[in-house]
Amino acid sequence: MQCWGSGEAGAPVRGRLLGVSAALRGANASREVDPVELPNCWLIKGIERGSEDIEILPNGLAFISSGLKYPGMQSFAPDKPGEIFLMDLNEENPRAVELRISRGFDLASFSPHGISTYVDEDDSVYLFVVNHPHLKSTVEVFKFSEDDSSLVHLKTVKHDLLSSVNDIVAVGPDSFYATNDHYFFDFILILLEMFLGLTWSNVVYYSPKEVKEVAAGFYSANGINISPDGKYIYVADILDHNVHVMEKHANWKLTHVKTLQLDTLLDNLFVDPHTGDIWTGCHPNGMKLLFYSPENPPASEVLRIQNILSEKPTVTRVYANNGSVLQGSSAAAVYKGKLLVGTVFHRALYCEL
Ligand SMILES: *[C@@H]1O[C@H](CO)[C@@H](O)[C@H](O)[C@H]1NC(C)=O
Repeated sequence: MQCWGSGEAGAPVRGRLLGVSAALRGANASREVDPVELPNCWLIKGIERGSEDIEILPNGLAFISSGLKYPGMQSFAPDKPGEIFLMDLNEENPRAVELRISRGFDLASFSPHGISTYVDEDDSVYLFVVNHPHLKSTVEVFKFSEDDSSLVHLKTVKHDLLSSVNDIVAVGPDSFYATNDHYFFDFILILLEMFLGLTWSNVVYYSPKEVKEVAAGFYSANGINISPDGKYIYVADILDHNVHVMEKHANWKLTHVKTLQLDTLLDNLFVDPHTGDIWTGCHPNGMKLLFYSPENPPASEVLRIQNILSEKPTVTRVYANNGSVLQGSSAAAVYKGKLLVGTVFHRALYCEL
């Protein structure tokens, strides 16, 4: 269907045309969601302007990025800097606590997007955060200090190949895979790319020694994550309505294994470390997300994908709401029978499964 492998930026014409219709269908989709309710859900106090991405450590500590400012996207507090919240999911009634960020980091321009964690041999926790200061793309690396609920800023990663980063997955204390959702970080050019069905979106590997494109040919690569055994990388193509399973090689290159097609716009991906299930926050209606109206808000939809490598993966709609409770879900993550659902610019939901 599409060209896979490094350096192959173009897709065959047929694939391209299919892509245009897929992109248009996605952007114009007027699919209304059939509600799927969970018996016990609570909106999380203190999170009012997004919870775009969520990562949960194996010990139940959840990190939530909030306050993303993205070209063309709704923001309820465009002048307030972004924040990272922490929740301890082992608690009976977990609260979201804003993490203090060390001095010297430019908080005023903080616009956090995709996040990822890495735990090294001595249990040090590193938090990687995609940031868009002044509408540029950087990756900020922090060390998490549990003692005083703070993040110590270690470094800012910038590179020409990290042009429009959406999400990352850390594979070492200073290395990661990143998705560039578009070649440009400009709303008009993004719309142009979308409507022309261009596949100018890729995955880049970054380490201080080597930076390279490792997969290309996506319409808009968004969420990225890794299988628990570290063999596969999962990439959500939001405009193509699918998840790609990519095999990871010793030279960090990715090759295409399979694609799971769905009928919703997939945003961030979370991988359950125990089961290997993929959890994702989705947008059933791309147009409502892009052109926000409080009277007719974008819906939320959470999918669980089991056994993605098998012949017949199981896809379950675990939660769906028309926007009356939760608008524009972008992330879903689980820990011991509890589900956290994040949104691009709205609130965050905590549910018992
Ligand atoms: C959403 O669904 C609820 C019922 O679950 C309904 O009362 C409400 O009008 C719906 N809102 C929209 C915007 O469709």
